[in-house]
Amino acid sequence: MNKQYERLQKCLSQVKEKVSFEPEVALVLGSGLGDYADTIKVEATLDYSEIDGFPVSTIIGHKGRFVFGYVGAVKVVIMQGRVHFYEGYPMEDVVLPIRLMKLMGAEKLFLTNAAGGVHFDFNAGDFMLISDQICMVRSPLIGANIDELGTRFPDMSNIYDRELREIVRNAAKKADIPLREGVYMQLTGPNFESPAEIRMARVLGADAVGMSTACEAIVANHAGMRVVGVSCISNLACGITDSPLTHDEVQETADKAAPRFKRLLTDSILGFGGN
Ligand code: HPA
Repeated sequence: MNKQYERLQKCLSQVKEKVSFEPEVALVLGSGLGDYADTIKVEATLDYSEIDGFPVSTIIGHKGRFVFGYVGAVKVVIMQGRVHFYEGYPMEDVVLPIRLMKLMGAEKLFLTNAAGGVHFDFNAGDFMLISDQICMVRSPLIGANIDELGTRFPDMSNIYDRELREIVRNAAKKADIPLREGVYMQLTGPNFESPAEIRMARVLGADAVGMSTACEAIVANHAGMRVVGVSCISNLACGITDSPLTHDEVQETADKAAPRFKRLLTDSILGFGGN
């Protein structure tokens, strides 16, 4: 058996020993959204540290646990805290949780993040529905293919599911939340980009940049999950304004946008049920 798949199966059996709950939707919470998981009808929680073989985040303030429960009648598993490539984990560790949630039963994946706005029309506090992506980090599929999950050379024509995107669009409209749409580019971080790198990103077709998500979307797509993603534009990317970027600014804007983001999450997930 493929080594990564074996590891996944080991993680899965530990999860199943502790939690008997089959989620339909998997949700990854980005900056500012961590406490969304506390607002749902929680059925069970599982700290990442309780799963032998699971990568644990090194960032202070990033809670590391799965929360299982209901948004309305929709069964969800929520990642409260993700691991990032810039923390130094091998790529297969970074994406392991996504694959694990697929094996738990989740067929749909909602990815969220904070991102820098590259498009000149974007403002801090905007939300962007991800229409497509540019992955500038190492492909998470490099290495022996996990045949049990998907094919060696997976198609990436529709990484972000059309139907789920329409549901998010409608949820935003209903809640009167303006929603941009655009292309997300993942760079490694942890440094913010230089002005020249942001000009490059724009020329290449990116509307927002961040340090997560694209690699997660690739493995999810590989494994046949239906994916949707929303970025909170937490800042204008480097070089658009004169002010230097700080993580505090990112956090502050993400925190401020969080109530509207959570509303969008709930209304969207309710729409995913049965779809
Ligand atoms: N660049 C990269 N990642 C980010 C940014 C940014 O400006 N803001 C939030 N995450």
